[in-house]
Amino acid sequence: MRIHQGRPRYKTAGALGLACAGLLVLTQCHGPPSGPDPAARLSDSADGTDWGAYGRSLGAQHFSPLGDIATGNIAQLKLAWHHDLPFGNSATEPIVVDGVMYAATGLSIVHAIDAATGRELWVHDPHAAERAGINLRLGWGVRGLAWWDGKLFVGTQDGRLIALDAKTGDEAWSVQTYPKDYAAFISGAPRVVPTSTGAMVIIGYGGSTGVSRGYVTAYDAKDGHQLWRFYTVPGDPAHPENPAMAMAAKTWFGDWRQYGGGGDVWNAIAYDPETHSVIFGVGSPYPWNHRLRSASRGDNLFIDAIVAVDARTGAYKWHYQTVPGDTWDFDATMDIELADLTIAGVKRKVLMQAPKDGFFYVIDRVSGKLISAEPFVPVTWASRVDPTTGRPVEMPGARFPVGTTPKLSPTPLAAHNWPPMAFSPQTGLTYIPAVHFAASFSDASKGWKPSTERISDGAVNMVGGEGAATGPLATHASGELLAWDPARQQAAWRVSQPTYVNGGVLATGGGLVFQGTVDGFFSAYDARSGKLVWRYDGKAPIMAPPIAFRAGGKEYVTVLTGLGMAYAGNAAAIQGPAINRYAIDPRSQARRVLTFAIDGADSLPPSPKPAPVPADADFKPEPARMMPGAIAYAGHCATCHGALAVGINYAPDLRRSPVPPSADAFRAVVHDGALVSQGMPKFADLPDQTREDIRSYLRTRMAALRSGGN
Ligand code: HEC
Repeated sequence: MRIHQGRPRYKTAGALGLACAGLLVLTQCHGPPSGPDPAARLSDSADGTDWGAYGRSLGAQHFSPLGDIATGNIAQLKLAWHHDLPFGNSATEPIVVDGVMYAATGLSIVHAIDAATGRELWVHDPHAAERAGINLRLGWGVRGLAWWDGKLFVGTQDGRLIALDAKTGDEAWSVQTYPKDYAAFISGAPRVVPTSTGAMVIIGYGGSTGVSRGYVTAYDAKDGHQLWRFYTVPGDPAHPENPAMAMAAKTWFGDWRQYGGGGDVWNAIAYDPETHSVIFGVGSPYPWNHRLRSASRGDNLFIDAIVAVDARTGAYKWHYQTVPGDTWDFDATMDIELADLTIAGVKRKVLMQAPKDGFFYVIDRVSGKLISAEPFVPVTWASRVDPTTGRPVEMPGARFPVGTTPKLSPTPLAAHNWPPMAFSPQTGLTYIPAVHFAASFSDASKGWKPSTERISDGAVNMVGGEGAATGPLATHASGELLAWDPARQQAAWRVSQPTYVNGGVLATGGGLVFQGTVDGFFSAYDARSGKLVWRYDGKAPIMAPPIAFRAGGKEYVTVLTGLGMAYAGNAAAIQGPAINRYAIDPRSQARRVLTFAIDGADSLPPSPKPAPVPADADFKPEPARMMPGAIAYAGHCATCHGALAVGINYAPDLRRSPVPPSADAFRAVVHDGALVSQGMPKFADLPDQTREDIRSYLRTRMAALRSGGN
C-alpha cells in the first residue's frame, strides 16, 4: 500500500545555520542586517523591490510599480528558476523581503527561498494537521503570510497565529486566536499594520460552517499579546460590548443567538494610514438561511459588510453592508483594494471590492459612503444598488420563503472569489478573475440543526447550477479575465478563460497583467488592450496570485503552480470535466515555485502523468450502496477530494488511489486517521456501514475511469 506518496523532506533550521555560515556573502542567506524603515516598505508608494505583504502593500492593490519587464521586452521573459514544493495546497501568494522569498503552502508550512536562485534556506512546519482535530475537515491550507521587521506571521488550520524569525524560521511566539470548539480555521493571510511604536498583526478566521460569532483581532507584532478585538455580530443584546454592538443587535431577530451569527473575516483586510482605518470584509452569516437565522427580518449587521475600525483602538468607524439580510452566501470578503481615483473630475479616496454578489463597489474610504456600484457580471438577484440608500434593490422572488427561486446570478461560487483582482494606478483599471454562474435556491431549514461534524451547511439548497444565460460568454459556467474601469463602472476588455476557476491577478508598472489558468498556462496581457503578449506552459494548473519583486537589482515575476481549493465541493461538478480534459491529477501534478526574469535560462522537466487507475480485480458493483455512498461522500469528502470523486482540489483523486480497493487500508486511513499528519482528517465517527458505502461508491467511480469514462 502506497499511502505516503509525496511526503515532504524537511531540512531543519539548524542545518541551515551551518550552510549559511559557509557562504562568503552572508546577505545571500539573511539579507542585509538592517533594512529601511519597515513601514516604508509596506507603503503603497514603496518602490517595488520588496513584495512585503499579501497584495504587496497596505492598500493591497496587487500592483507592482516595477517596469523593467514590460510590453517591449516581454518576449525575452524566461524561466529563471523553479523550486519543487511538497504535496499540499499551493495556490498561495508568497512575499519577498531583502531578496528572500517566503511562501506558506499546504497547512501553513513556510518555505524560505533565496529569491534570486531558488535555493531553499529553511522550512517551518507548525504541525497544524495533527493539532486541528475535527476542524481539519474544513480544509484547506493558507493563502498567504505577512512580514514585519525580521518576523513572519502565518495563521494555521487549528487557529494559531504564529510569528517566525525570518532568518532562521524559529518560532518567536504563537497565540490561539479562537476557542477550539469553534467550527473554524485560518486560511487567509494575516495583515500587518504599522503603529507609532511598532506594528500589530490583524487576523480573522474562516468558518460559518458551524456555530460561531465572527470577529477580527489585532495582536502586537512584538510578542503576540492581544491589542483589540472587533466582533462582527452582536452577542447578548442586553450587554453590548460597545455602541457598535448595540446598533448591530437591533438588526437581528428570531433564534439567531443559538447559531452565533457567523460573519467571519476570512480574507480581505486593508489599512489606510491616512485615516488610521483598518478596513475589512465580513463574511456570510451562519446559517445562510435568513428565515431560519433571523425570522426573515433585519439587516443582520455586520454580516456581508465592509467595516472600518480605528487601528489604534479597534473602535467602530463606519460600515457599508453589501447584502442586508443575506440568504445566498454572498460574503463581502473578496479583496479590498485602496486607491485614489478621479471620478467625474474629482479626486476621491476610495476602496474597491468585487464580491460574490456581482456588483463592483466603489466606496469613499474616509466616510464609508457608497460612490457607485454596478454589475460586473450578469446579476439577477437585484436590479441595481440604489445610489441614495446604498441598498440593493432585490428582484421579486429572489428570496425563498416558499419553494425554489428562478435561476439567480451570481451564486456563492461566483462572481469573484478569493483569487485576488489587481488594480493598476497606471491604467486606472482593475483586473478581475470573474466567474459566470447561476443557480436556483430553496429553503432547506426544515428539521435543520447545526452540524457538529463540520459539514458545510447553510440550510439552503443550491440547485441546477449553470452559466448565466445572458452572459457574453458560454451558457455553461465560465470564467474570464475582466478589465473593469472603476471610475466609469464599465468593462474595458475581457478575455475568456478555459475554466471558471482561474488564478489571481498581478498588474505591473511594465503595462502588463499576469494571470495563471487551470490549463497550466501563465499568461501576460497588455494592461490597456487585453492583448495576449506572452504565455508560458507551467505544466501544472495555476490558481495562485503572481507577484513581482527585485533581487540583486533584477526584476522577477513569481507564481506557484498546483491546485488549491476550487471554492466549494459542489463546484467540482463543473470544474471536474475540465480537470479531466487537462489530465490534472492533484497527487502527481507539479507543485512548484516558478520565477521568471528577462533572459532566464531554466527549463521544466516534462509534465508528470496522472497515476494510472489501480487494478481492483475483486470489485463487483453493489448497486444498493451507490446512492448512500454517493451522498455520504458528497457530505464528508467532496470538499477536499472533489465532487463525483474527480480530484479538483488539493486532496488526491480517489479514483487513482490504491486505498479504496482494500477494506483494511481504507479503514486505516478513514477511520483510524493514518494520514492525519498529511492533512487527511480522521472520520472515526462514520459508521462502518457508511464508510463501506463510500468505499464501494469510490470503487465504482474507479471502474468508470478505468473503462475510459469520467
Ligand atoms: C479536509 C480535507 C479532506 C477531507 C474532508 C477528506 N480528505 Fe481524504 N485526504 C485528504 C488529504 C490532504 C489526503 C492526502 C494525504 C497524504 O498526502 O497522504 C487525503 C487522502 C485520502 C486517502 C488516501 C489516498 C492516497 O492514495 O494516498 C483516502 C483513501 C481518503 N483520503 C479518503 C477520504 C474519505 C473517504 C473522505 C470522506 C469520508 C475524505 N478522505 C475526506 C484530505 C481530505
